Amino acid sequence: MRAKPEKIEERGAAFSERLIAWQKSHGRHDLPWQKNRDAYRVWLSEVMLQQTQVGAVIPYYTRFLERFPTLAELAHAPLESVLELWSGLGYYARARNLHRCAQTLVAESGGVFPRDPREIARLQGIGKSTAAAIAVFSFGIRAAILDGNVKRVLARCFGIDGFPGEAKLENAMWALADSLLPEKNIESYTQGLMDLGSAICTRTKPLCGACPFRASCIACREGSQDRLPTPRPTKTRPERETGFLIVTDEARVLLERRPPTGIWGGLLGLPEGGVAEAREYAARCGARLLEMRMLPPFKHTFTHFHLKMLPLVCVVECTGNVAAEPGLEWVDFDRVETAALPSPVRALLKIARAGESEADLFAPNRRSGKKTAPQAHK
Ligand code: ADE
Repeated sequence: MRAKPEKIEERGAAFSERLIAWQKSHGRHDLPWQKNRDAYRVWLSEVMLQQTQVGAVIPYYTRFLERFPTLAELAHAPLESVLELWSGLGYYARARNLHRCAQTLVAESGGVFPRDPREIARLQGIGKSTAAAIAVFSFGIRAAILDGNVKRVLARCFGIDGFPGEAKLENAMWALADSLLPEKNIESYTQGLMDLGSAICTRTKPLCGACPFRASCIACREGSQDRLPTPRPTKTRPERETGFLIVTDEARVLLERRPPTGIWGGLLGLPEGGVAEAREYAARCGARLLEMRMLPPFKHTFTHFHLKMLPLVCVVECTGNVAAEPGLEWVDFDRVETAALPSPVRALLKIARAGESEADLFAPNRRSGKKTAPQAHK
């Protein structure tokens, strides 16, 4: 840390005053979740805003509240409809935690949200920073936030070297964040940190000319904005390979509810497996397998590993009127856009569908003709 601790203390008040003044004149004031202090709404917004940008969150937030205007309505809804509304936003554990947390709050405290950030942080899926943001915006409680954007602002302003996800440095940053808190105007201060991090002190190409700290920021003075914060030490992610079956009668695709834990837990997904499993799935839903062909591999990166998805399109003909077994669901391709599917699965289905229609154009009599493999892939 290039700024001396005693200097930081001296600058604490100046820092918060400057930030509050900047937020009042240049920050955001009309985001949908700023309309009132209702803890349920604030909590929902903060959970949606974890790892997701404001622009992407707004339509989801609005739709979610239309469907579940109160904590009680959310608690009483089936998980599937919560996941459906979350579909496309990613990080589905957030939706499952939100739902469980609503049920816990309704059952244990009559739906009343705790005010103390330490108690809020005990709820499912709420970390220390999110808990502080909820306490600040719902109850005006003086608590420090420290998400990725705030770490970037502090690392640059105070010239802090080192990866901020490393425990020792993270603790030091929490102490710094605490020491900077203002006595008053905690909402404007907290919102100011968020606004500065997302609009000015951006990861690449920060707009230092428009920053309220341009005169005092150590990174700006040294020209080290590109180096700070120090990136996570590179770690190689392992790669996993899994076959995904696109069992389709050409109008619909066969989906399976995934187990509640693990990747994409609780969402609808493609059955996994290869040729043998394709035959089993076809048999389980009373369908005759007409044709199988592979699509090019499709990669998706998770936090801890890369997933190489090996898609196998299995065209089937449904004989009779056999409904799929429990856990299996036929979904119209038209519903793929809105169903509770993981985004990579949705993308894969779109590619498969695009390949279908392209191939159909070239081989309209596909049952007797040869199928052209679709080209589009990632
Ligand atoms: N990021 C996290 N919380 C936020 C909020 N309340 N407003 C804008 N961006 C955010």
